[in-house]
Amino acid sequence: MLTMYERAQKVFPPAAGRSTQLGVVRAEGAYVYTEDGRRYLDFASGVAVANTGHRHPAVVHAAEEQLKKAIHVGHNVAWYEPYVTLGERLVAATGGDTMVYFSNSGAEANEGAVKLAKYVTRRPAVIAFKGAFHGRTLGTISLTTSNSAYRKHYEGLLPSVYFADYPYCYRCPFGQEAGQCDFACTQQFTKIFKHLVDPEEVAAIIMEPVAGEGGYIVPPVEFVRAVRQVCNEHGIKLIFDEIQTGFGRTGRLFAHEHFGVRPDIMSVAKGIASGFPLSAVIGKRELMEKWPAGAHGGTFGGNPVACAAAVATLDLLQGGLVENARVQGAYFMARLQELKERFSCLGDLRGLGLMIGAEFVGPHKEPATDLVRHLQAACLERGLILLNCGADKNVIRFIAPLIVTKEQIDQATEILGEALATVASR
Ligand SMILES: Cc1ncc(COP(=O)(O)O)c(C=O)c1O
Repeated sequence: MLTMYERAQKVFPPAAGRSTQLGVVRAEGAYVYTEDGRRYLDFASGVAVANTGHRHPAVVHAAEEQLKKAIHVGHNVAWYEPYVTLGERLVAATGGDTMVYFSNSGAEANEGAVKLAKYVTRRPAVIAFKGAFHGRTLGTISLTTSNSAYRKHYEGLLPSVYFADYPYCYRCPFGQEAGQCDFACTQQFTKIFKHLVDPEEVAAIIMEPVAGEGGYIVPPVEFVRAVRQVCNEHGIKLIFDEIQTGFGRTGRLFAHEHFGVRPDIMSVAKGIASGFPLSAVIGKRELMEKWPAGAHGGTFGGNPVACAAAVATLDLLQGGLVENARVQGAYFMARLQELKERFSCLGDLRGLGLMIGAEFVGPHKEPATDLVRHLQAACLERGLILLNCGADKNVIRFIAPLIVTKEQIDQATEILGEALATVASR
């Protein structure tokens, strides 16, 4: 009998890259089960989506109950209970002075966020960060620079997008040393405004509060506060793309809480509904109120089943899983630190909560891309699913579900240690 992978070759283009060729028949908690009868510890969580684990009973129950009532109503047609409840819950979770617009995917939420900033400021330009990932639509690849492959043959993108350097302290783009620097990264906006674009032309600065696809990079608090300050000075709207960082991933409901900085607009998706497609633009009320009917829209936004699953997801996160991400994240980081002491190829460990990146390097700090590829394969053989990130694909990103236990972290660390021992000695 052919495997799913073999059958898929005939019907799917290679465009969407896949990190494994597993054929999954069932997913439960922190594990996925494959057609050949194996079980894998899933530290990819469907790329930071299954934050409550796969098929959490409370999420399944909420979705099943909603299935009995309505599958689609259409938010262009009428109101419905889970949509309104979720809106109320998200407003309450983001300071109480916000409003919410629902869409389906992360890219769509970013499109909405940028449209909102342009609409309310009547300004054309956007500043994004080098190395960022904001999505795959034509609008959002205009903001995405985590890899030029994503933009190749699509050039002629959104105009008036300018790029700033992200504070990647392990490889400081300004040649400074982490811990001894004068935050040259915070000065760069003066130059951008002097040479590239007048600040009065800039609608928004869009930023991931922790870089995801670009390498799991945590910026210094000083930098995030400086960006807020720049926006305040020039009437620029600060958009935080919390699509990968949101919904408890970093040990706070939203990553920006770590920095004591609030955005004007935030895009969220991925973990919001434990796997149901749903996203949202969450903006300050005074901005959202200026976004009139017809200025934005979409058929499927705020699907009832997805919204019901999202309310159950929020209950779980606020009922203990965010805290578990903090506790288990600290434990996981300590275990990984032990590996860092044993293996010199593990150059940098960084992260917040259960958003942890391990950057692998050669003897001269060069990106160890091949090593990471072999390491992922060796872990997969031993039953652990891991993803990479970074422009050189030399960073392993650990995206454990927030239900993860100490025992599962021990198991993952053991597999990783064994795999590292085999690949690092090659
Ligand atoms: C930070 C960030 N923004 C936007 C996106 C795009 O989301 P989607 O794939 O749902 O369009 C992603 C997806 O990986 C992401 O990590």
